[in-house]
Amino acid sequence: MCGIVGYVGPELCADLVVDGLRRLEYRGYDSAGLAVVDAEGQLLTRRAEGKLTNLVKRLVEAPIDGRTGMGHTRWATHGAPTEDNAHPHRSGSIAVVHNGIIENHVELKAELSALGHAFQSETDTEVIAHLIDHHRTARGLALSEAVRQAVLRLHGAYSIVVIDATTPNVIVGARVASPLVLGLGQGANYLASDVAAILAHTRDMVFIEDGWMATLTPDGVDVRVVATNESPRWEKTTVTWSPAMAEKGGYKHFMLKEIHEQPRAIADTLRGRVSLERRTVDLPEIPLTREDLEQLRHFYIVGCGTAWHAGLVGRYLFEDLAGLSPHVEVASELRYRNAPMDERTLVLAISQSGETADTLAALREGKRKGARIISICNVIGASIPRECEGTLYTHAGPEIGVASTKAFTTQLAAVHLLALKFGQLLGRLDDAAMEAELTALMHVPTVIEEELSKPADYLEIARAWHEAASMLYLGRGNLYPLALEGALKLKEISYIHAEGYPAGEMKHGPIALIDERLPTVVLNPRDAHFQKVRSNLAEVKARSGPVLVVATEGDTDAADLADFTLTLPAVPEHVLPLVAAVPMQLIAYTMADFKGTDVDQPRNLAKSVTVE
Ligand code: F6R
Repeated sequence: MCGIVGYVGPELCADLVVDGLRRLEYRGYDSAGLAVVDAEGQLLTRRAEGKLTNLVKRLVEAPIDGRTGMGHTRWATHGAPTEDNAHPHRSGSIAVVHNGIIENHVELKAELSALGHAFQSETDTEVIAHLIDHHRTARGLALSEAVRQAVLRLHGAYSIVVIDATTPNVIVGARVASPLVLGLGQGANYLASDVAAILAHTRDMVFIEDGWMATLTPDGVDVRVVATNESPRWEKTTVTWSPAMAEKGGYKHFMLKEIHEQPRAIADTLRGRVSLERRTVDLPEIPLTREDLEQLRHFYIVGCGTAWHAGLVGRYLFEDLAGLSPHVEVASELRYRNAPMDERTLVLAISQSGETADTLAALREGKRKGARIISICNVIGASIPRECEGTLYTHAGPEIGVASTKAFTTQLAAVHLLALKFGQLLGRLDDAAMEAELTALMHVPTVIEEELSKPADYLEIARAWHEAASMLYLGRGNLYPLALEGALKLKEISYIHAEGYPAGEMKHGPIALIDERLPTVVLNPRDAHFQKVRSNLAEVKARSGPVLVVATEGDTDAADLADFTLTLPAVPEHVLPLVAAVPMQLIAYTMADFKGTDVDQPRNLAKSVTVE
């Protein structure tokens, strides 16, 4: 996690770097810092504990500026979130910002301390600054070579950006297993953790690969493989996201804006991939044939958090539409299991960021054992798609709110397309079935648009329940993962404990919790499980539990059993999770906003979890 931005060019860059950090704050907000080389060739830094606004205040009190600079917003791993531990870290003329973890920092610190280096922080990062300084001063190496020699000693996952007061007009970056993108400008060049930070300045990006480093001056870039010092072949990618896509656009929070962007995001994800006329799904980016699918022995879907929930919904779709029953695994568990995988195995990774360390590791484990690996991802050129044979991109656009919303529903749309594609390849779907599925899916953006424009009792629910210590979410079939997702959203942003449960399991334990203080959200539309879930609902009511029913529009019976009712449009069962996601998101959002929590940047979380 952590966000880093670097600039070298003709402009004074403090504002540009701070603006880039603002767009990266979703990656971490424990502290922030800025370093520049000023006109006199001095290295100046400012750092502040807490959110970026604290750094901005510090810069107003004591401004610094220069034409070479870099900034950092931190999600703490080693060392408390204090100013001393805030990046940039310095040694001599060198300053470093870092995203990731240096696993051998203790050993390096001992070595450097013995050489007389004194450390100021508890971080793993500070060793990088001292190591580069050592190579620069004690060994007299040029900056880029000093960085290369230092990087060769580092174990772990990192992207770093380095500046040096004795080498103005140069910045150097390097990466291993943490994202780093290079932006190519006109007479200026940039480095950042994520394209969103530099989109306002350039759309021409180079995704730095693992084991590469780059030396940037205002007029050029020199990319090298760290291990060999050779120049690899690199490509420029032009990113189509506009800077405006990463702004709030009049909404109170990014999360609310992103909830409202779902119709557009889902339509974009489906666009060009579905032919209603031919009743086909076209996914040329997924290079699997009928023979590949027929000989599969194992099929795993891996992801974390919300992406895992999308995978759980996917299982119902793959079973119903393609006759395949994937194991849907939490990536942090799968990566350490001895799960059977071989060349007749398919691993599908789902990830918004494409950088989640656990998902990447689970995928690599599959690759190591010979499995075919594909992904569903939102960020073009991220680490996960770069390692896969094929990636189905969700065209959600940048998701800034830490709680995932439009990324989730576009993942659901993408996984539905993939299940249809597999069903089509395996000859499981006749024309009528295909037409029904595609019509339902293509109709989803309009249905969600209407759903979002309807008045609903979210505020009343928040007023009544915002002091609850805990809540229960129940769902069955393909809405069970939505119960998990509703509970996760609530926990993340409102800090109310919540549990998602398969409705049929309630009687095996959680029912003991039910009383007048435990609100339960019951997903109970008129689907195949309607009657059974309605019985579960009655069981909650019979024990005085307050209930919110999410029912099908026009289901007048629901109101008799419920304290609150929210309605879902009547849609075919396979697209129900897509429309049910909206109330799950809005319950959590309204509850959190009513409580006044930091909706877009909830405590302790970060958007992109690039550490284990
Ligand atoms: C929940 C949330 C997280 C992410 C998880 C995976 O709202 O955002 O649970 O879903 O960290 O992230 P990605 O999809 O980037 O791999």
